[in-house]
Amino acid sequence: MTILLTGGAGYIGSHAAVALIEAGHAVVCFDNHCNSKPDVAVQVEQITGNAPIMVTGDIRNRAALDQVFADHAIDAVIHFAGLKAVGESVALPLEYYENNVWGTACLLQAMKAAGVRKLVFSSSATVYGAPQYLPLDETHPRSATNPYGRTKLIVEHMLEDLAASDPDWRIAVLRYFNPVGAHASGLIGEDPNGIPNNLMPYVTRVASGRLDQLSVFGNDYDTPDGTGVRDYIHVVDLAAGHLAALDRIGRESRALSVWNLGTGNGHSVLDLVRTFEAVNGLAVPYRFAPRRAGDVAACYASPDLAREELGWEAQRDLAQMVGSAWSFEKLATTRNR
Ligand code: NAD
Ligand code: UFG
Repeated sequence: MTILLTGGAGYIGSHAAVALIEAGHAVVCFDNHCNSKPDVAVQVEQITGNAPIMVTGDIRNRAALDQVFADHAIDAVIHFAGLKAVGESVALPLEYYENNVWGTACLLQAMKAAGVRKLVFSSSATVYGAPQYLPLDETHPRSATNPYGRTKLIVEHMLEDLAASDPDWRIAVLRYFNPVGAHASGLIGEDPNGIPNNLMPYVTRVASGRLDQLSVFGNDYDTPDGTGVRDYIHVVDLAAGHLAALDRIGRESRALSVWNLGTGNGHSVLDLVRTFEAVNGLAVPYRFAPRRAGDVAACYASPDLAREELGWEAQRDLAQMVGSAWSFEKLATTRNR
């Protein structure tokens, strides 16, 4: 198949491109590079032997999207493109609604016009809001606590309405938990601009000396060691989940399906830091800091539905996540010098 990846040059998109190419698919990436570089195609080619087609464009530009569908016989779309920083979304809500909601509406219109009705959408565990119970299964009530989360929730509702309006759509809503780590080659990974908001890239930058010290946000949560617990999932496992979802919607009778992509295991901030130190033989200096506004004590998935319906299960453990994240950081530091 030929798969269009919006946001295909980004962190998760580039790993999905590798997985798709390795499975024999042709990949077209459509990305405006607001948070990525076009040369990721070189790294993907180094890994797979085949380069994805890179098209520079914005999902808010309907004409550019129409052109992509005219130029390539697209069978399905995986929609990664969007803005994803929670704090930034509080400061710049309109940018988030424009990119994530309006951009998605443009993409869906272009897909409809082109007669392409297979879609995999990058949603997030953030749509569960503050957990009412754990583990979080797909029927857990949804809510949003910030503009980013609200954009994901609005798109989920938009997709539900679309599926109800036309039963020929085959849509997979994938709710990711906490993607971390990098491809085993160390060639692609997460390289955020500026000071990272998320734990894993912050830890790798402290380990490499690019940042002084990690602030652990809160050590008084009701968790085994008092620090926040999350369901970290290796990005290579996450990428494999997209292949499983694409395969499943190809033979699915429902117009819309929802699957969690998580491991089902919760790890605390200190678990992650100590595992990183032990696996990589490095110290990660940290201090305890006040809780971060909006954070919950614990959040982890029930991965049962994905296992039953997709036949997919995460394979890689925390040691592999922190080991690969460090391998990528080392190479990225060398490259950036
Ligand atoms: P990323 O920023 O690395 O990748 C997103 C890509 O989309 C970037 O390459 C960016 O340049 C591109 N993009 C953004 N706006 C665009 C637009 N208007 N037109 C075209 N391209 C555009 O982020 P990621 O971590 O790979 O996330 C991919 C998707 O997964 C996002 O939708 C994100 O919200 C979702 N998600 C991510 C996480 C996470 O922790 N990484 C968790 C849950 C959900
Ligand atoms: N943390 C620190 N110090 C840091 C950064 C994070 O202690 O410098 C802690 C947080 O308090 C939290 C844990 O590390 O306990 C994980 O924080 P992240 O920012 O890495 O991830 P979140 O769980 O807050 O959020 C991420 C994405 C969201 C997404 C959510 C669920 O950023 O967009 O996972 O998928 F919605």
